[in-house]
Amino acid sequence: MASKLPDTTKSLGAGAMDVEDGSGGGGKKVAGKWPGFVHFFFVLTVVMCALVYAPRFLSPAVPVDFLGPRQPSPSGRAAAVQGRSVHSGRGNEGDALVLDNQVNSPCAWMGSHGICCDRSDYNTDVCFIAGDVRTDAASLSLLLYPPPNGTANANANATVAEKEEVVRPYTRKWEKGVMANIQEVRLRAARPEEADAHRCDVRHDAPALVMTAGGYTGNLFHAFNDGFLPVWLTVQHLRRRVVLAVLEYNPWWAGTFPEVVSGLSRHHVIDILHDKRTHCFPGAIVGTRFHGILEVDPARTRDNRTLVDFHDFLAGAYKDDGAYSEVHTTAPAPRQQRRPRLGLYSRKGTRVIENEAAVARLGESVGFDVSVLETANGAPLSSEYARVSACDVLAGVHGADLTKLLFLRPGRAALLQVAPLGVPAVARGCYEKATTMMAMHYEQYDAAANESSLVRKYAADDVVLRDPEAATRGRGWDLIARVYLSGQNVTLDLDRFGDTLRKLHARALRLPVGGP
Ligand SMILES: *[C@@H]1O[C@H](CO)[C@@H](O)[C@H](O)[C@H]1NC(C)=O
Ligand SMILES: *[C@@H]1O[C@H](CO)[C@@H](O)[C@H](O)[C@H]1NC(C)=O
Ligand SMILES: *[C@@H]1O[C@H](CO)[C@@H](O)[C@H](O)[C@H]1NC(C)=O
Ligand SMILES: *[C@@H]1O[C@H](CO)[C@@H](O)[C@H](O)[C@H]1NC(C)=O
Ligand SMILES: *[C@@H]1O[C@H](CO)[C@@H](O)[C@H](O)[C@H]1NC(C)=O
Repeated sequence: MASKLPDTTKSLGAGAMDVEDGSGGGGKKVAGKWPGFVHFFFVLTVVMCALVYAPRFLSPAVPVDFLGPRQPSPSGRAAAVQGRSVHSGRGNEGDALVLDNQVNSPCAWMGSHGICCDRSDYNTDVCFIAGDVRTDAASLSLLLYPPPNGTANANANATVAEKEEVVRPYTRKWEKGVMANIQEVRLRAARPEEADAHRCDVRHDAPALVMTAGGYTGNLFHAFNDGFLPVWLTVQHLRRRVVLAVLEYNPWWAGTFPEVVSGLSRHHVIDILHDKRTHCFPGAIVGTRFHGILEVDPARTRDNRTLVDFHDFLAGAYKDDGAYSEVHTTAPAPRQQRRPRLGLYSRKGTRVIENEAAVARLGESVGFDVSVLETANGAPLSSEYARVSACDVLAGVHGADLTKLLFLRPGRAALLQVAPLGVPAVARGCYEKATTMMAMHYEQYDAAANESSLVRKYAADDVVLRDPEAATRGRGWDLIARVYLSGQNVTLDLDRFGDTLRKLHARALRLPVGGP
């Protein structure tokens, strides 16, 4: 995707990351320069998606050891049991713990004692360490101790290199500014003189995943795109038998995503920067996989996972009864008697729909039940999940809340993204692919110049209105951020937007009752 677009580097200031949308900052400030060579479209896309999603509430630290959610499906439960037996079977010949779930990874066959790093991906490095693994808090290292004598699988080809491996566990390897704020984690073989050092204070019977709650924290898009989806891609095959060792562990993260965290792991989270004890594991993964913007590539996972599986994981995490499939296959009433539900995201400060009340009335008159959903209102994500998953159509102006498309029902729902003037390509790049990967319908409504608040600021023949592409060409990110993202509201043309809503309403009615 990125490669066919022109490269531009000059004006992509790091300051772009700090664009405020009026709902409060909180995204981590990013220092430093952009890399000298970046793929423009990719950067543009992810940066736009990065627009600040307010850290809506700072909850006090909560213990992260919740009773895990139930597995989303009976097969999930069965697999969990299977995972356990695989694990306890460790030590039997040929029954090693599988750390790397990626097809054709150089680390897929690393065996039960060794260190292996896969640095072949453009976005992320992931390292694996298998065997008697112990933490060294002082140097933020994972040390590999030799296997005890007589252990099966002290296999000949699992040589442990002398060299120390260093990895920053985040999915934006190409973006030096943010990576500079991600701690380096070291992996190496324990030296002979360390034989008696690092006695285990805490012994875990599950491997660790070293990850970060930092990076572009405080923004929902990044929390999922660079955080939880990559974590899930990396460890879902372990079926919650993994210990999350988290860098930059913070109350916002713990308080905002408790269900997701306990859905990923049945164990306590380790605050690895502050916990000075020696933790011992049968293996560890440092870093996470990345398949694309809110994407899952089934061909890259050994168990053929899709974005729908990630949705089902979230459904399991957020729902009391855990059974996503039961919910969407038993429709309460015939479809025809029900008015489809339109969820309309209401932004504050910038990229506001100025005639929002009229748009909501329009939705009702077209035949929808309309829920106006507020961004940044402090509601817990579990209740947001319930509200969004009830929608047949989720509509909103480009911004991080549309990441909640992940909460929509696969195979049924539609996402309607309103792209303000100057950002249609970027808007599409953020959410279209994920929507179609969930077998949902993607619709984009591009605001025309006469629907933009910029008409109040610029003359009709100004290049900003006439030709946004030309206006931004060569001037880069700052202009886009300042003019088109921070400085623009829309007033939707009710005739034209009505046509779009009618189309989506007709589609919702056409869908068969029950499952997709
Ligand atoms: C393990 O085996 C090696 C030789 O194979 C021997 O030198 C060493 O003493 C043994 N260690 C223990 C703890 O038995
Ligand atoms: C390492 O061992 C595995 C089987 O355990 C084998 O398939 C692989 O070819 C070996 N690699 C090397 C480099 O010897
Ligand atoms: C992966 O899943 C897809 C969709 O469920 C299916 O069509 C495909 O055959 C599967 N591939 C493999 C290798 O299992
Ligand atoms: C807005 O501009 C579009 C063309 O871009 C035109 O079709 C439409 O009639 C205009 N609407 C108004 C209210 O002027
Ligand atoms: C957009 O709307 C909000 C809320 O009404 C307002 O505070 C803001 O000034 C508007 N922005 C522009 C550029 O008109």
